[in-house]
Amino acid sequence: MTTKISKAPGEAAGTKRHPLERAGRLDLIRTDGPSDYALLDSGGGRKLERFGAVIVDRPEPQALWSRQRGDEFWRRAHAVFSASGDDEEKGKWRLDKKVPESWPVKVGEVVLTCRLQGLWHLGLFPEQTPHWDWMLGEIGKVSGERPRVLNLFAYTGAASLLAARAGAEVTHVDASKKAIQWAKDNQGESGLADAPIRWILDDAAKFVAREVRRGKTYHVILIDPPKFGRGPEGEVWDLFQGLPPLLKNAAQLLAPDRAAMILTVYAIRASALAFEQLAADVLAERGGQLSAGELALSAEGGGAAVPTSLFVRWTS
Ligand SMILES: C[S@@+](CC[C@H](N)C(=O)[O-])C[C@H]1O[C@@H](n2cnc3c(N)ncnc32)[C@H](O)[C@@H]1O
Repeated sequence: MTTKISKAPGEAAGTKRHPLERAGRLDLIRTDGPSDYALLDSGGGRKLERFGAVIVDRPEPQALWSRQRGDEFWRRAHAVFSASGDDEEKGKWRLDKKVPESWPVKVGEVVLTCRLQGLWHLGLFPEQTPHWDWMLGEIGKVSGERPRVLNLFAYTGAASLLAARAGAEVTHVDASKKAIQWAKDNQGESGLADAPIRWILDDAAKFVAREVRRGKTYHVILIDPPKFGRGPEGEVWDLFQGLPPLLKNAAQLLAPDRAAMILTVYAIRASALAFEQLAADVLAERGGQLSAGELALSAEGGGAAVPTSLFVRWTS
């Protein structure tokens, strides 16, 4: 006979019971990314990827394992990013083959323009693909009115454009003028010039607080904050300080009948459980379903997957 040592969930004294259905486990979502993208190999602190016609070799601190493919395979890279010191985001690109100043990468029905700029980001986060598919499913469930989508920390606009293409009215918020211009260029490239997208250059936290005061609501809210950032007026964004109030306000913006929210968190040392519990706290009164876990990019040919971020998904 075995003695039960663990308490049943919620058995501990004083545990708050949420009227919310929580998965009770962390999920691992693996994705190949969009069809125009491939993770070719990873290991030794780097990853080799193909964005459309261009192959890049970039730092990947999570790739602790050995590479599957040899040096010759890795020499297929058009461009190699070398980080300087501890900060992987500081460094420069070395071009080993010709790379256009910008080039298109198809993501479903929209086009994202990729560029090698100062930073090692190219203008597209391919691991977000399963979240975008999920978002499209949630947009499809809205009936009786035009779906409204709020995209916070929206960068070059992949999610905004996919939502607009699916018929949603989109509010795209980012603190960087350059990122908004890039997203607008992607709008043109995607043939969505007339789509109803509101481009908002603002601090996400301030904007959300203002929308609460205005009594606005959205059917889908996407939140993809960096660890540290700055609003256009120099407002400091710190994930651990800023996220709880931001999420509390975002929860108030969720449409009363049908709504969904996706939070992604990356480049930090933290547990998905911490963010699941924060979301459970702010959504306690709404009920619905909550799941959380890690998002990983699968390698072409079955090599090691690269973990990219933590996520929480909620739907009414
Ligand atoms: C990594 S990107 C998000 C990626 C995006 N969700 C995607 O999948 O394409 C983070 C973005 O947050 C923006 N940002 C940083 N601080 C901000 C703030 N305080 N308010 C609004 N946006 C901010 C940056 O300009 C950047 O575009």
